[in-house]
Parts: sequence; structure tokens; C-alpha cells
Amino acid sequence: MKRLVIAIDGPSGAGKGTLARTVAERLGYRHVDTGAMYRAVAWKAAHEGLPLDDDAQVSELARRAKYEQADGQITIDGHDVTRAIRTPEIDKASASVARLPHVRQILVDQQRALGAGGAVVMEGRDIGTVVFPQADLKFYIDASPEERARRRAADPAHTGSPSNIATVQSNLVARDKSDSTRSVAPLAKAEDAIYIDTTSMPIDVVVHRVLMLVAEKLEG
Ligand code: C5P
Repeated sequence: MKRLVIAIDGPSGAGKGTLARTVAERLGYRHVDTGAMYRAVAWKAAHEGLPLDDDAQVSELARRAKYEQADGQITIDGHDVTRAIRTPEIDKASASVARLPHVRQILVDQQRALGAGGAVVMEGRDIGTVVFPQADLKFYIDASPEERARRRAADPAHTGSPSNIATVQSNLVARDKSDSTRSVAPLAKAEDAIYIDTTSMPIDVVVHRVLMLVAEKLEG
């Protein structure tokens, strides 16, 4: 049986997380949430009072950090940060540290090591373009900003989100802008990625469509 590398990219709140987790479960593959890696580094940098735009200091922290992701739990250097990294402050802080080239290089190397043996579903912003340009299957998952804000506001994993959907939406749009205009590995659809607009599509339909394409790939 082939051990595929499946890349899932797209903006925040488009449904990548649920899709990647479910597809990985169904296939018995490893699920890697690369956004959680940037979030954990941002959390630790903020915790230590580092300036979030200092590439030398934050990348040194990222290089030394012991990061683990298993059964939905995320730890960095022994701290369980599963909930602490899903706050509006860390949304912003993660997008800041994600602009730093050395931080990206360190996390990209770790992500490549995690996916080296295949049998992985990896989600993020640059998986199909930078981390695994040779991935067996690439998806770009999108949804309208209104729908993404609605999903984000309803997501219990994101604590302390503003109750006002308009504020959630303007924060999301600001982060999309930061992610897609940065000079290193900006959020972009890989040319060979399959684009899925999930705005009016239930998640089980998206999962079904992705699993059909995986089955074709495994047969072909
Ligand atoms: O996916 P999530 O919203 O958890 O990602 C948090 C932030 O981490 C993003 O806004 C983005 O700035 C950064 N990120 C990235 N590259 C990835 C995954 C996440 O730059 N592969």
C-alpha cells in the first residue's frame, strides 16, 4: 500500500483542521497541524517576553523547543498549550512569528521530518508550495470570509474569541492579509492543488470528496 503525503492548505476557518483530522483518522495516517507549531512557538516566545519580530531570538527558541502533538494534545517543552494557543492574542502572535525566515526554516525542517515516511495528512499555509512540493495530493480549502468568521466564532476550541462576528471577521481578514502578503512562503494555492470552496458544503461532503480522490490515487 502506498503511503501518501497529503497536503491541505488554505486560510483560517476554512475547515482544514476538521478535514485533515478526519481524513487522517479514516486512513490511519498521521495528522500534522503545522499552524499549531507556529502557535506553540508564539506562545512560548510571548511567555518568555521575547520580541515577536526578533528572528534570531525566536528561531533559537524554536530550534531548542521540544514540540509534541498527539491525540489532540499539544505540548511545548512539557507545557500543555492545547487551549492556550487558541486565543485572539496567539492568533496574532503566531502570524507575527510566521513572518520570520529562520523560524520558518526550522519549523519546515521539522515538518519535512514528520512527513518523511509518508502516510501523513499535513495542514497549513505552505505545505503544497514549500514543505512538500512533491506531495501526492494537494488540496486548497477555502470559504467566504463571512462563513469562516461564523465557524470560528462557533468553535469551542477557540477561547476568548470576541462574541461579535464582525470583529472575528475583521481579525481573520487581517491575518489572511498578513499571511498572503509576507515575503517568505506566503499563503497561496499550489498550481497543482485541487481547490474546494466549502462555503456551502457540509464537512462530511468535503471529507467524502477528498477520500474519493485519495482512493483513486491509491489505486492508480
Ligand atoms: O492554521 P492556524 O490558524 O492555526 O495558523 C496560525 C498561523 O500560523 C497562521 O495565521 C499563519 O501565520 C501561520 N502558519 C504559517 N504556515 C503554516 C501554518 C500556519 O505561516 N504552514
